[in-house]
Amino acid sequence: SLGLAQAQAPKLPQKDSYKVGFAQTENNNPWRIAETKSMQDVAKTCNWNLVYADAGGSAAKQVADVENMIAQKVDLIVLAPREEKPLIPAVMKAKKAGIPVILIDRNVDQKVAAAGRDYVTFIGSDFVDQGRRAAEWLVKATGGKGKIVELEGTTGSSPANNRKKGFDDVIAKQPGMKIVASQSGDFARDKGRQVMQTLLQAHPDVTAVYAHNDEMAVGAIAALEAAGKKPGQDVLVVSIDGTKDALTAIAAGKMGATVQSSPFFGPITCETARKYAKGEKIPAWVKVEDKFYDKSNAQAMMADGY
Ligand code: AHR
Repeated sequence: SLGLAQAQAPKLPQKDSYKVGFAQTENNNPWRIAETKSMQDVAKTCNWNLVYADAGGSAAKQVADVENMIAQKVDLIVLAPREEKPLIPAVMKAKKAGIPVILIDRNVDQKVAAAGRDYVTFIGSDFVDQGRRAAEWLVKATGGKGKIVELEGTTGSSPANNRKKGFDDVIAKQPGMKIVASQSGDFARDKGRQVMQTLLQAHPDVTAVYAHNDEMAVGAIAALEAAGKKPGQDVLVVSIDGTKDALTAIAAGKMGATVQSSPFFGPITCETARKYAKGEKIPAWVKVEDKFYDKSNAQAMMADGY
């Protein structure tokens, strides 16, 4: 019945090869580039004819990209939703067209859309836990003292929302620690640098920076140095991702630690799609496990960077 059809995400037929749409949010930083490459690489081994679209940092463009994939009658849409709410109509349109959607790396608003019902599953990291781990490192490194600047990711994106929640909850329990400012740097290096430069004028006594990704952390380090501060000494820097630049900064003593956020979604997405086509039950959340890098292992783990 129609009711039943709407209660479940569309099925994926078993075929030798698939036409797969990959809707990327933007492709302008090392993390995104590594993710795109992982999808392109797996397309060859998984027998996917990949239809790739880069939304260039626009949720509206990403919605149009998904609509375009629906019009092209792809078998499966792999979506990295830029923001939690604006991409929901695109997910619903694909469902209506009978095309299954697998969300990777970022999630959509869980109050509105549900895995198994509207899309197949979310494959990705535990962003709340990433924020928590960054905060726990900072508490330990400072003995629970400090004035913190937080550089947030893209407003309305699931990693920004959840990395903030995980971090802020831990810090709120520390009477000696305070987040003196929290502002978006849009996950971008130069934005992070600019925001840090401005915030340093209002808060010259800051002792720590928590950036929601490594690109903004690297930008913040540049701003700190331009202001005559010594990142890693006067001001501790902690962030998330595990890029080569961040591992290098940790090894050089300019950055304290970074929580890995793996961008390598290709193999796990291929495996999940195959299982789904076979009719196996897919969990609502296929969790990606992340490592942790600080001065004890950054140099040795440099090959993990991208
Ligand atoms: O969704 C994951 C985040 O998006 C990464 O941490 C960031 O670098 C990217 O742009």
